[in-house]
Amino acid sequence: MGALVAGANGGGRDIAAAVGGRRERERALRRRLPRRPGSRGEARQGEALGPASPLRPPCPAPGRAAMEPERVAIVGSGLIGRSWAMVFAAAGCKVKLYDIVQQQITSALESIRKQMKELEESGFLKGALSAEKQLALISGCTDLKAAVEGATFIQECTPENLELKKKIFSQLDLIVDNNVILSSSTSCLLPTKLFTGLKHVKQCVVSHPVNPPYFVPLVEIVPHPETDPSTTERTYALMKKIGQSPVKLNKEIEGFVLNRLQYAVISEAWRLVAEGVVSPTDLDLVMSDGLGMRYAFIGPLETMHLNAEGISNYCDRYREGMRLVLNTFGPVPEFSGEVEQKINQAISEKIPVAPKQLDARREWRDECLARLAKLKKQMESD
Ligand code: NAI
Repeated sequence: MGALVAGANGGGRDIAAAVGGRRERERALRRRLPRRPGSRGEARQGEALGPASPLRPPCPAPGRAAMEPERVAIVGSGLIGRSWAMVFAAAGCKVKLYDIVQQQITSALESIRKQMKELEESGFLKGALSAEKQLALISGCTDLKAAVEGATFIQECTPENLELKKKIFSQLDLIVDNNVILSSSTSCLLPTKLFTGLKHVKQCVVSHPVNPPYFVPLVEIVPHPETDPSTTERTYALMKKIGQSPVKLNKEIEGFVLNRLQYAVISEAWRLVAEGVVSPTDLDLVMSDGLGMRYAFIGPLETMHLNAEGISNYCDRYREGMRLVLNTFGPVPEFSGEVEQKINQAISEKIPVAPKQLDARREWRDECLARLAKLKKQMESD
């Protein structure tokens, strides 16, 4: 584990992580991993992977000279906006961080500085540039027009509120040119709700990250029906270039893909506990020590492929069994009442609903994610 934590960037500069015991490693990781703005323990929003790719060049803007960096504007400097800023800067992009609240920007820039320095110190900073060079690429701004000036990509990261986001995209619609991409981080608002009627709808797309984007690279790219295919392609290419892992949805759907899969799992988990088949803590173990282990590396379809002699053979073997089980699934749960109480009690016994305990567990989770991300990167390059 020490070798994993040591980080490709520093080649073992984090001595505590490399040679120390678990407590030292934990302390070292805690120092280096970023925290949620405003919370007491501040949950991490950044991650430490070592260079995303030491060979990856800084991100040049499409159609620009190779060495001219892409200019990105981030609208909203909260948890996700900060994390996006770090991800883009790690790839060499110039980032303007916009917010309506000056204090938010000040605290975002301070927090990013602190996080990057800690990540660098521990050898977990992403990208080929030093923390100082990455920090020099990020600046704050409270003037929307100035923030988006010269930007080729705008990532909106304001609170999940349809009216607010529509207002922001209407403002952007008035000031942007015909080349910039207008992208939203929304978790669940459909592109048709956000972008319909905008003059620049062809340039609009949802790029839904997974929290924390610095650790978890997946980005769901969801077009509006009128989005120009080149917008989707450019967004996809940019996400690849900055080291994220984009997937393209061909059309919008409630929950996109990630949350549809997540809700399917939550739904059946809830029913199994409701029916007294399994305890809430054992249910979680089925995922964390069972399915989840392989899902960190291969998806459900490849799992089928490998668990038999290919997909068709899997279907031949298990088609009937799967259908039999699936036909026993119950209706959508209410997610309330007695079952909610039962699950709440069981999980709260393990992790009390108190800021200190919740923060500690979040930190542990993010530490696991950081190490897993590093392992995945190493395995890709092996
Ligand atoms: P947040 O509440 O941490 O940050 C929102 C920021 O937007 C704040 O800094 C606020 O001052 C700023 N803001 C408010 N009104 C604004 C305006 N008119 N113009 C510019 N900035 C404004 O929210 P968070 O968690 O960063 O979420 C942002 C978006 O990312 C949401 O759409 C959310 O659904 C999405 N998202 C969040 C994830 C999460 O786990 N937090 C995961 C994936 C997506």
